Amino acid sequence: MAISHSDFRLFLLCPDPGPGKRYNLRAAGNRGLVRELKVRLLILSDIHSNLEALEACLHTVGGWDQFVNLGDTVGYGADPNAVIERVRPYGGLSVRGNHDRAVLDPKEIETFNPIAAAAVQWTRNSLTPENLAWLSEVPVGPVYEPALADTQFVHGSPGNEDEYILSEFSARTAFADSRAQLIFFGHTHIQGAVEYKEKNIQVIHPSYAFKPGSAERCDFPLEDETRYLLNPGSVGQPRDGDWRAAFATYDSAKHQVSFWRAPYDVDLAQQKIIGAGLPYRLASRLREGR
Ligand SMILES: [Fe+2]
Repeated sequence: MAISHSDFRLFLLCPDPGPGKRYNLRAAGNRGLVRELKVRLLILSDIHSNLEALEACLHTVGGWDQFVNLGDTVGYGADPNAVIERVRPYGGLSVRGNHDRAVLDPKEIETFNPIAAAAVQWTRNSLTPENLAWLSEVPVGPVYEPALADTQFVHGSPGNEDEYILSEFSARTAFADSRAQLIFFGHTHIQGAVEYKEKNIQVIHPSYAFKPGSAERCDFPLEDETRYLLNPGSVGQPRDGDWRAAFATYDSAKHQVSFWRAPYDVDLAQQKIIGAGLPYRLASRLREGR
């Protein structure tokens, strides 16, 4: 059965434990696994030149060990230079996205819709030579973190950086093209996970109380015998109906992914887009989360 975007089922993962209370992970089904290698990843994707959203994520998450960027660092938003200069010092792992590629190669623009193409051209003309050079060195996925066996990082899908994993077919293709247990991906701008267990596919999205103005976290303990596609969502242009910046963390010691949403100054990001002369739609869709 094909799973269309609108068919994605919602599962209640983390009911709100109440003010000031934390989730009891063992009671919630976490098996309390402790891994030998302990690393906490901060995983961002599709920042899309939205500095306000990026800053909100960094402010919300607290500490981490390794920075991971799943691509589309630029495009759409008004702060490509500031965003690159904010992420560059972290180092870590970065993957090229399709917008990053299009900024570097004018021929790529032919595959973009007019609004996205306008943003790509504006971004190409706005980036400093130094930041263009940095972008050109970001590798095509999959990339790997040596400390984490069985984990890979891609923009679209393991076999194709332009593939949108939005159907059961594309999810099965992704699992077939990879041997990794955990595949972190972006590109769809939709936060969530796909489980592959005993040949069955199940799509899962975090469920939030959605308190505008509040940051929220939803913990997702992983099982040892299950494979996962894991999407942190989009920092700078979410398309799952929640306008807040989306990202994820992975704690290898707990073998747990946490999905996060962070409110940010959407008005300011919109004003910058309009002030830059970018298409109005790129500003209006930020508040819609679409
Ligand atoms: Fe994107």
